[in-house]
Amino acid sequence: MTTGPVGHASAPGKVILLGEHAVVYGEPSLSLALERRIHVDAEVAERASTVNGHALDPARHGYIHHAIQLCALATPVRLQTRSNLPSASGIGSSAALSVATVAALLQLAGRAADPATVARLAFETEYQTQGAASPNDTTISTAGGAVLLSPRPLPLGEALWRLERDGHQWNAHRLHLPLLPLVLGNSGQRARTGDQVAKVRRSVERSGFARDAIREIGTLTLDAVQALQARDLVTLGRLMDRNHTLLHTLGVDTPQLARLVEAARQVPGTYGAKLTGAGGGGSIVALTEDPERVRQVLESHGAQSFVVTASPRGLEVTP
Ligand code: PMV
Repeated sequence: MTTGPVGHASAPGKVILLGEHAVVYGEPSLSLALERRIHVDAEVAERASTVNGHALDPARHGYIHHAIQLCALATPVRLQTRSNLPSASGIGSSAALSVATVAALLQLAGRAADPATVARLAFETEYQTQGAASPNDTTISTAGGAVLLSPRPLPLGEALWRLERDGHQWNAHRLHLPLLPLVLGNSGQRARTGDQVAKVRRSVERSGFARDAIREIGTLTLDAVQALQARDLVTLGRLMDRNHTLLHTLGVDTPQLARLVEAARQVPGTYGAKLTGAGGGGSIVALTEDPERVRQVLESHGAQSFVVTASPRGLEVTP
């Protein structure tokens, strides 16, 4: 039985509608929080830190290891995690883990686990673990709902917080969007975000085409926000299709993802489809009038698929 201080927090996964990879270079991105979440419980341990009953291994538990370092805990900790988010699948499990762990550790240490502080420390956790990252995933996981990141503050929605690193600035805005009929399809191919971000970096350093693709993704993300405000799903779908082509140019599409995207687009009533998250495997997202049909088609192509329930819930810290 636990008698000492404890920390309990949970945080959601996410789907990136537009802007992945480009957001690492400071371009805008637009994401929604999912209903699926990770829960983390923390308590003080007597000797060494543990994760789900195993000794903490910095190689295996990279995000947790960095979160503990960044929160500068004075004692070893015992952590338990529970999740219904598949990992390495493009839907933000590592960000949700970082956010929930940071918040549980701050609570355990008796420190304020306010969203802006957690978002900053969780971003740093992802950055240090992956070697590069944008604050996209950790911000949406902390805030919940729908979030637009942009390099400058915009007169849109509600201003949340600003994060800076490597000469880039990301201003987070909470947007109030109409409910979008979206379907996710997980290819089952696992890909590490850090590897895909490094791959894109090599392209960006070598090729003007890649640099143009990054800029165009930023522009079309802002166009998509306008389309959303006008409830113009046809334009939004077209922009998602174009975003997928640009991600293909950047080298993070795979034959399997391309097949899933194509299969979703063939369903009558589908406005657009693209890979979502880091790519190299992971998931696709489709915007469609017929979510159940798209879900079945994606399953018949070997994907694990579900209709997206976007969630207003972000980080939750339980007393
Ligand atoms: O695949 P995920 O869920 O880790 O998403 C990665 C999103 C990127 O834009 C590719 C990286 C980042 O840090 O923003």
